[in-house]
Amino acid sequence: MAKTAPSDKIKKPGIPVEVSDTKKAEASKLISIRMPKEMMEKLRGTAQKQGNLGYQKLIKNYITQGLAQTEGRTDDVTPVPSEERKIKNSPQSHRILKEELGRIGTPYIQTTTRSRVTVPDQTLSQHNVIAEDIENLARFLSPYFQDFSGKRFLITGAFGFLGKYMVHLLKYLNDHVLAEKASALLLDNFVTGYEQQVLLDKHLQFVRHDVIQPFDTDADIDYIIHMAGIASPAYYTKYPIETMDVGTVGTRHMLELAAKKNVKSFLFTSSSEVYGDPDPAHVPTGEDYHGNVSVNGPRSCYDESKRFGETMCAAFYRVYNLPVKIVRPFNVYGPGIRPDDFRVLPNFIEHALRKEPLPVHGEGRNTRSFCYINDAVEAIFRVLFSNANGEAFNIGNPSPEISVKELATKVAKAMPYKVDVVKIDAPHAVYATSDPKRRCPNISKLQKATDFKPKYTLDEGLQRTIQWFQER
Ligand SMILES: NC(=O)c1ccc[n+]([C@@H]2O[C@H](COP(=O)([O-])OP(=O)(O)OC[C@H]3O[C@@H](n4cnc5c(N)ncnc54)[C@H](O)[C@@H]3O)[C@@H](O)[C@H]2O)c1
Repeated sequence: MAKTAPSDKIKKPGIPVEVSDTKKAEASKLISIRMPKEMMEKLRGTAQKQGNLGYQKLIKNYITQGLAQTEGRTDDVTPVPSEERKIKNSPQSHRILKEELGRIGTPYIQTTTRSRVTVPDQTLSQHNVIAEDIENLARFLSPYFQDFSGKRFLITGAFGFLGKYMVHLLKYLNDHVLAEKASALLLDNFVTGYEQQVLLDKHLQFVRHDVIQPFDTDADIDYIIHMAGIASPAYYTKYPIETMDVGTVGTRHMLELAAKKNVKSFLFTSSSEVYGDPDPAHVPTGEDYHGNVSVNGPRSCYDESKRFGETMCAAFYRVYNLPVKIVRPFNVYGPGIRPDDFRVLPNFIEHALRKEPLPVHGEGRNTRSFCYINDAVEAIFRVLFSNANGEAFNIGNPSPEISVKELATKVAKAMPYKVDVVKIDAPHAVYATSDPKRRCPNISKLQKATDFKPKYTLDEGLQRTIQWFQER
């Protein structure tokens, strides 16, 4: 199909967008989008029904299509996902969004935009709560400084929630602690992560790479931490095949690289989801429980890929004596988690900060045990540096095991104003038919092998997380 010239008026059935612009190079200055009256009316109706978020989303889609057209990329109104993300995050997209919302008197909710997640991370000191966490983490891991010193790491999924804390930690150790600096190759394809160039320096190097493809490097590698994965149900139902592949094919590629590089240790982040919906007799759940998992349910692409990933790790350990370790995190939360991740805690906090009722699926009786991010990252490094080759460890905080309804009440009470908790029908089969009823780890194996103890209570972690959500 012929490309649309930037100066063309763009009209598409159903969603006509009029974009005025003359030169591609000047697009960012000149773009203006006007909505037809009837569309505006429709959006206003939606705004009343769905609140600001739904409304902003509609306008953003509108803008994305307009900008893709203006830049002459294609005359198909739907840009490919990576382009769409770029456009949505572009400064002109935010400017237009603000203008459009201003025009009809709807406030701009900055917390819902992706770029708000990256921008404040420019320096650690701007994020008091993360800076404090990293300092504490460094202190808790002080017995392992020698294991970091001068070592070469490769981290996949390095720009995800857990990965970024690790990168912040390596940077902090290099800047403040280690005489011989650690280095790291940081791999991510940004299917759910956010790029943060600012974290990088000559020791911490980013490689945009999809681990579903083989990866090779001339660099020596001491440690591989394989964290790439699609962890949130909202995203793994959207990308089920990529989810399967990253846990299986991606893990295989990393194991092969580890064998070739003769690493000191390889760590695979599996998941508590390998236990599926555990038999109540096995809650708190120990590593020897084999799970109650559907092979073809809505969660299977994630659960089964983590299970098979573990199987491959065990085989590489047995066949090549590769020093693999497996961790199974249980509901990690904390500063830096994607606000639009849709996992239960960020979802509640986002609603609470918008003074909207907290949506609890059904009676909210299912339980979870939440682990603050600093505890999770500390435990992961302790396992990585241990001698527990071929072993799997639960990572989590067993106390408290709390129902989703109690959690909602806790979040609501943490707010300085009144927030309601409401029952809703689960929006998707992944929650409606296959949400595990109880989730609580037995972490005695981890404690025995690594001397780890969780240090953050749920109340402390929650308070820190809310603080970060407010600071953004
Ligand atoms: N956070 C939790 O509570 C939790 C619980 C259990 C397991 N885990 C596992 O721990 C790991 C990290 O979790 P997280 O919360 O930081 O997740 P996250 O989604 O925030 O980060 C995962 C990162 O992996 C990247 N990624 C995904 N597919 C990739 C691919 N094919 N190639 C390269 N990069 C890719 C994403 O872009 C993202 O940056 C994941 O493997 C997840 O399954 C997390």
